[in-house]
Amino acid sequence: MKIKREHWGTRLGLILAVAGNAIGLGNFLRFPVQAADNGGGAFMIPYMISLILLGIPLLWIEWALGRFGSKKGHGTAVAVFDYLWKNPVAKYIGFLGVLIPLTVVVYYTYIESWTLLYSFFSLIGGLPSTPLTADVKDYLEPFKNFLFEKTGETSEGFLLKPPLETYIFFLITLVINLYILYRGVSAGIEKVAKIAMPLIFIMAIILMVRVFTLTSPDGRNFLDGLGFLWNPDFSALTNPKVWLAAAGQVFFTLSVGFGAILTYASYIKPKDDIALNGLAGASVNEFAEIILGGSIAIVASVIFFGVGATAVIASHGAFDLGFMALPAIFANIPYGQFFSFVWFLLLFFAGVTSSIALCQPAIAFLEDELGYSRQKSVALLGGFLFFAAHIPIFIKGALGELDFWVGTMGLVLFALFEAVVFFWIYGSKKAWEEMTRDNDIKIPKIFYYIMKFVAPTFLIIILVSWVFEYLPSVLSKTDIGTWVARGFLLFLTIAGILIIKLAWEKRNGRTSS
Ligand code: PHE
Repeated sequence: MKIKREHWGTRLGLILAVAGNAIGLGNFLRFPVQAADNGGGAFMIPYMISLILLGIPLLWIEWALGRFGSKKGHGTAVAVFDYLWKNPVAKYIGFLGVLIPLTVVVYYTYIESWTLLYSFFSLIGGLPSTPLTADVKDYLEPFKNFLFEKTGETSEGFLLKPPLETYIFFLITLVINLYILYRGVSAGIEKVAKIAMPLIFIMAIILMVRVFTLTSPDGRNFLDGLGFLWNPDFSALTNPKVWLAAAGQVFFTLSVGFGAILTYASYIKPKDDIALNGLAGASVNEFAEIILGGSIAIVASVIFFGVGATAVIASHGAFDLGFMALPAIFANIPYGQFFSFVWFLLLFFAGVTSSIALCQPAIAFLEDELGYSRQKSVALLGGFLFFAAHIPIFIKGALGELDFWVGTMGLVLFALFEAVVFFWIYGSKKAWEEMTRDNDIKIPKIFYYIMKFVAPTFLIIILVSWVFEYLPSVLSKTDIGTWVARGFLLFLTIAGILIIKLAWEKRNGRTSS
């Protein structure tokens, strides 16, 4: 029996859902850290170029693949690749578009749950407070200890020992996500986006206004922070590390290369527009990223700690800026508790509308390929996420290893497959026709060449540089967390292959008899 596929309710709802998909922890946490760690103004030029040469074209490719899927009643790259490429391996390669988001969401929801925990502790005044002393390091110390306590970082052994409240907040976060998904595409995801998106913007604007009126005791103000981000530094154009970081950020923030846009696009009607919808979603995301995301964390940190210290904070990874520096600043301003609450609630809302998008490909896969009902699919996913999350929650080093394989390498690889399967295997002429039909705006012809030649070349260069830059150090890691993460990925890959194989055998058996 074929279950009728779901559809978005309204166009506005679709755009908000897609913007919610894209606007996430990446905009407010990852972007400021990447920008500050890569020289501020030096980062923005490669960022803009990557946005135009990679981000937007690949986004349109994913939308086109999704709309193609909607014609056939399928919402993941597993089936879409199988239609486009008459080769038995196509569907297994397409499985990357389920595996990647499914793995990312295992640790993404966990980090998302920290933001809920932090907003709760801000509200009840449970975050540390230290007076502003001369040394940034001493100043951040209590906040670092707090984060380490809540995430259970211990110095010895491979086990993390988070306290009970961390676990409870994770469970709450998981249940919220599953409930939204259980309600479905239009009554769940779309409805939540309609409420959450305006709130995200209001909260971000409140914080931005507050940051713009801050001054440090030694006289720095928001112009110093904006100057750091917006004074272009052309010398960085020759630095490959900055290019990799910029391209990686563009992918992450636009949700491109995960398969999650493809799935959302598969819930439009087969003759609906993708060009304008895709561009609208991307524009809202970029506004939230460069204008809002770029005006809160970095600017506040530059005002309080200066450019040098901000870069050092950012160089420690994604959490020091958002979970230590910002609450430390808020602890020293009037009504700081309130602003801290708003900051973490903003992250939580942005996180939820993204994590549900990361879950949906797996649900679409279970529904479309195995014929399961939505309820059954959500229940299976919930069980899986609950068990799998114990890996990043309790095993040291696993989160970083998973993030490297799927959140850094995997999505670039999958984006490359999307471009190659569509433009080179299916055929560039047919691909272009499929992409440019029934749209409300015209995609300029230059994108044909960008999609066919420039983007794949760019992606191959990125992958090859990653292999040389980072792979040796990643592969040389042998701690328990690393091996658990690799084992988990291997398990998922094998399980996926077997499930697809069985599903296709069953389907072919049915059609031939
Ligand atoms: N774009 C999201 C962010 O910026 C991450 C994400 C990727 C969400 C893929 C859904 C799908 O945080």
